[in-house]
Amino acid sequence: MSVETVTPTTAPHTGPLTLIHSEDSQPGWWRSAVIYQVYPRSFRDLNGDGVGDIPGITEELPHLAELGVDAVWLSPFYRSPQRDAGYDVSDYCDVDPLFGTLGDFDVMMAESHRLGLRVIVDLVPNHCSDQHVLFQAALAAPAGSPEREMFIFRDGEGPEGHQPPNNWQSHFGGPAWTRVTGPDGQPDQWYLHLFDSSQPDFNWDNPAVHIEFERILRFWLDRGVSGFRVDVAHALVKAPGLPAWGGRADGGSSDGFPGHEAPMFGQPAIHDIYRAWRRILDLYGPDRILCAEASVDLPRLAHWVRSDEMHQAFNFPYLHAGLDVNRLRTVITDSLTVLGAVGAPSTWVLSNHDVVRHATRFGYNGQGPRDGDGIGLADPQPDTALGRHRAAAASLFMLGLPGAAYLYQGEELGLPDGIDIPEHQRQDPTFARTGGQRLGRDGCRVPLPWRADEPHFGFGSGNDPWLPMPSSFAGLARDLQAGLPSSHLSLYRNMLEIRRGLDLGRGSLAWAEDWCTGSSLAYVNGTTLVLMNLNHEPLEMPAGQVLVRSASSGLESSGWDGLLASGETAWIRIGPDTSAN
Ligand code: GLC
Repeated sequence: MSVETVTPTTAPHTGPLTLIHSEDSQPGWWRSAVIYQVYPRSFRDLNGDGVGDIPGITEELPHLAELGVDAVWLSPFYRSPQRDAGYDVSDYCDVDPLFGTLGDFDVMMAESHRLGLRVIVDLVPNHCSDQHVLFQAALAAPAGSPEREMFIFRDGEGPEGHQPPNNWQSHFGGPAWTRVTGPDGQPDQWYLHLFDSSQPDFNWDNPAVHIEFERILRFWLDRGVSGFRVDVAHALVKAPGLPAWGGRADGGSSDGFPGHEAPMFGQPAIHDIYRAWRRILDLYGPDRILCAEASVDLPRLAHWVRSDEMHQAFNFPYLHAGLDVNRLRTVITDSLTVLGAVGAPSTWVLSNHDVVRHATRFGYNGQGPRDGDGIGLADPQPDTALGRHRAAAASLFMLGLPGAAYLYQGEELGLPDGIDIPEHQRQDPTFARTGGQRLGRDGCRVPLPWRADEPHFGFGSGNDPWLPMPSSFAGLARDLQAGLPSSHLSLYRNMLEIRRGLDLGRGSLAWAEDWCTGSSLAYVNGTTLVLMNLNHEPLEMPAGQVLVRSASSGLESSGWDGLLASGETAWIRIGPDTSAN
């Protein structure tokens, strides 16, 4: 096959197209936004204590504006004992001193808005910290008191209530119930915690809990946030009577998502909560949004984003589809169809603070790590070069899709997971609660490298970072990549710029059937063909101008070599350039 002689001058025939989704003309910035997740502990440590902070975020925001994202989502920075990296909140309306002050937050907001970036914050309504004043009051009060009614306290089973009230297991391992000592010093009731024992679940059957969270929503809306990412949004309401559950702790069934019968997830009454929240957000205008972290299958996900509920929900089925072309096609088709049927855009995501980074996941052929379990030195090791190569392809494939996309900090640098983390430095409660059997999620939470030549690669100039940074991060530091046209960072910048210029987030999707083989997948969005080759062999591309490709460089290809490498994606212009100049 000779390709050198082929010089396409006209748009190619793409072959038969199967239209799945038409252009989106409904208003709403969030429908097509690219939202960048900042994990504050690991973003930038300006005060040198080894943990990232809000002034550090403010300092580096210009880099995010330059990257070309529309908004940032901040993982929790609230007052917290940090038993679950801030997802154990002890005061929802204050900044933890570890991260700064409310004043620092306001400065960060102002700087974000100056740069044209919106800010979404994390809301953790399923549970709080055991140090929260409400839980402390519940501990001090007797069984049956209004204080205890804010949480899920029950008497134990068996003689003297020695057994937990039911058989539910914590997501992080071990039982989901912990027994407390009563105000009289005697063994007392048990409280439910779907996560760590330091994270008691709120009782959403109690209207007082609703009132408290509506206050919290207003507090942050008044401070100018553009919305909330709602943590474990599917868990707030539990089935009446808390029936026993023989299934997995995460409620999961074989497809990885809670079965319809899981009593701790996806209960119908949950939707009334989000309808009430939506009414509050709407009082602040149409630009404030709710995004559900709801680990449910696609048909049910659509219930979360009906027009009077949340605006968006994370698309975990997409994340879990990996690089399996058949699964990807099914998930994309189903997402656009099922969510489109209720008027909602889809979202797309490949990485976050709970899963092994996609640059590491894709470094495995065959069985990779299980989500949330992490990788250690004793595990099969990923091929890092292969992982980064395929991660670039997967990101380019994702960012051509219509809808909104979530990026996780560091993926624009092609960062892998930290693997060499000594046991005594592991902080994810999963590690301790499973006696080290599951390593947990620390690997994807390793701090970011900003400047190759500075201490801790520019993350902070003081104490050692809270998790060790691999030496390989030196070569991946942002300052090095910024100057290199062939870097991962340059690829991200280019694809985000082209995505914006062509308005791909608002675009359409049709499968280009001739290019959807068992090992390649292609769709047309407007005048752009997005083609990913997962075959072991190179693939001859259709004729057209290559706008950006994942393997060669982030730059627009000056020539057309006609071949798409194995594990590579390209965006190819197949029609006239209609983007605004
Ligand atoms: C969500 C968060 C995760 C946290 C858990 C409990 O899944 O993303 O990091 O541990 O909720 O709050």
